[in-house]
Amino acid sequence: MSSYLPHIVALVAIFTFVSAQSTFPATPLASKTFAYPTGIPYKVDTDIGLVRGTQKGYNICNSTTESQHSLCQTSIFNTLDDFCLWAPAEPNSVVGNIEGEMVAWCTKPGHGTRLIPGGALTGLQYMRTPDYIQIVGFLDQTKVDIQVGDYGGEMDPHGADLRGNPMGGIVYSNAWTGSYLQVMEWHNFMGSDAFCFKACDSRGPNAARFCEHIFDRIGCAYNAPNNAKPDVFESCEGDNQDFPGIYTENGQVKTYMQPAESLGPISTTPYQPKVPASSNCKTFESSSIFAALATVSADPKANDGATGSSTTVTSSGLSSKDSTTPSATGSSAPAKTSSSHASTLAITGVPVLSLGVLFSALFLS
Ligand SMILES: *[C@@H]1O[C@H](CO)[C@@H](O)[C@H](O)[C@H]1NC(C)=O
Repeated sequence: MSSYLPHIVALVAIFTFVSAQSTFPATPLASKTFAYPTGIPYKVDTDIGLVRGTQKGYNICNSTTESQHSLCQTSIFNTLDDFCLWAPAEPNSVVGNIEGEMVAWCTKPGHGTRLIPGGALTGLQYMRTPDYIQIVGFLDQTKVDIQVGDYGGEMDPHGADLRGNPMGGIVYSNAWTGSYLQVMEWHNFMGSDAFCFKACDSRGPNAARFCEHIFDRIGCAYNAPNNAKPDVFESCEGDNQDFPGIYTENGQVKTYMQPAESLGPISTTPYQPKVPASSNCKTFESSSIFAALATVSADPKANDGATGSSTTVTSSGLSSKDSTTPSATGSSAPAKTSSSHASTLAITGVPVLSLGVLFSALFLS
């Protein structure tokens, strides 16, 4: 029997090696709860040796971490003028390649994060409904380190490996009770000079469905139906939308299934999502609600990558390097695209452009 021992030792060693290279964390990100702020650990994602590597940033964010180099991955979403978006840490990034490493960029100082530079946000609609808050808007994405023309991707606390995108990224809101509650279900699409961010009230019974994370290729129009308008900054109340992917046709409730990426671009869908009724919209001047951002820019390197870089545009994010993350919103720029962006888009190549044409009407509304 003892002659088998070396083999057993070898097998155990191999097994240990393989299991060290496993994919899944002990606890999925969407099940990790931390009281704000004292219960938050330095890093939320602590599993060692998983295939996607380690968490990019950290979760304890304060005045010492607040700068345009911050790697804070604790996001805040409160109101029209107080929210954060997930965006890259390095200039000129393609979202589909670095969804797992996004960091928080916020509209207000005090969250220990980067600030969204002045002029980046060019139209916003904040919507408060019984089950969630949602903000949808237009932005100059190069100002938050996203490559010009990139149609982007979806961030949420799931991902194929349940570590979330970004890994270890957590979200809090004081919108419901006045004090900070952790948002366990949320999604944030970034790309095509637009974004949408929905935070579902964790106390509601349908948070996971309103903040559904499986429709990563059909963009904001389908995941966050809205009436956001360029150059308008408004805060509204509204009814709940249908759960993403659920629609009614001839009185029959149906479920849309997103086709596999291997089947190619999504060129049609069987339905147009319903934009829920809204009321009590109040409009604001961006120069007054975002006065503190007027003099903020991304870090100096970001500016190098953000302007006049059309010849360095190399990838659209169509072929995400990371198969464990969704790669695209399957969506494109809203009509409001500056002429310089439009000309740069043309240089990025046919796939981006043709996808853009197909979806040009779908992304926001
Ligand atoms: C501020 O944040 C840093 C980085 O996360 C952390 O190391 C430090 O302990 C924090 N300071 C306080 C006073 O919480």
